[in-house]
Amino acid sequence: MDFKNKVVIITGASSGIGTATALMFANQSAKVVLVGRNEKALQDVAKKCETSKGIKPLIVKAELSVDDDLKNIIDQTINVYGRIDVLVNNAGVGVQGSIRDGIEPYDRVMSTNVRAVYYLTSLATPYLVKTKGNIVNVSSVAAFKPIRDMNFLPYCTSKAALDQITKCVAAELGRDGVRVNSVNPGATRTPFAQAAGLTLEQQNELYKAREQTLPLGKMAESEDVADLILYLASDRAKSITGSIYVIDNGEILL
Ligand SMILES: NC(=O)c1ccc[n+]([C@@H]2O[C@H](COP(=O)([O-])OP(=O)(O)OC[C@H]3O[C@@H](n4cnc5c(N)ncnc54)[C@H](OP(=O)(O)O)[C@@H]3O)[C@@H](O)[C@H]2O)c1
Repeated sequence: MDFKNKVVIITGASSGIGTATALMFANQSAKVVLVGRNEKALQDVAKKCETSKGIKPLIVKAELSVDDDLKNIIDQTINVYGRIDVLVNNAGVGVQGSIRDGIEPYDRVMSTNVRAVYYLTSLATPYLVKTKGNIVNVSSVAAFKPIRDMNFLPYCTSKAALDQITKCVAAELGRDGVRVNSVNPGATRTPFAQAAGLTLEQQNELYKAREQTLPLGKMAESEDVADLILYLASDRAKSITGSIYVIDNGEILL
């Protein structure tokens, strides 16, 4: 999988799956655009990316719920590289809440996990059409079933919506030569649960429960998910669009 001269935007590149994805693209000679909020983490990732093939990444600090920040991601990418070949909509937040908690958790999760993906994809589309590029969205097995031990109604709702964006945009842009696919991980070892507000003790309990119950007896690592993202973004997947790829150690079988 060679991404030489390809420009790849990765949101949420400052942590977890996004970091692993950025490093893997950089290792395949891509020009990576690292998007996130934590500047220090982005700089650390950029250094590692540069070490692999000597190509300096572009860092764009962005709060994805802010429209001007989304426009800035595209503007800076075009100013610096002049093109976009791949958009990886990876950033996401795990917001807990039940139907008894009112509308705030819903608005918070949708602004990042759905609205930002929708608008960033819209802004990137003219450039992806020019390059016959592609999009990989990072969804979740939460799109298919409630994650009841995490009280995750808002999050599950957002990922189900994201899968429909994947399919509808794939159908719309197919004749323009633009592919759109989704990677839907199950439990993956990243700072995600911590960011979702779980204490260290709760995280350990969750990980233990997953390792005990998942059919393959383990959680995924970020690199496992990144590998699948790269495959879908590569020419090897040239006949795949509108597809939802589960990578979950068998979690949805339970
Ligand atoms: N880990 C899992 O078990 C799991 C399972 C299924 C699906 N997923 C999905 O995988 C994707 C990556 O998650 P992860 O596990 O790698 O989690 P993570 O380590 O917590 O990383 C989340 C990333 O998203 C960024 N982000 C979140 N909200 C943002 C906002 N409003 N504006 C800008 N950036 C924002 C974070 O940026 P900063 O750190 O810079 O703020 C961070 O880089 C997410 O879409 C998640 O839903 C994860």
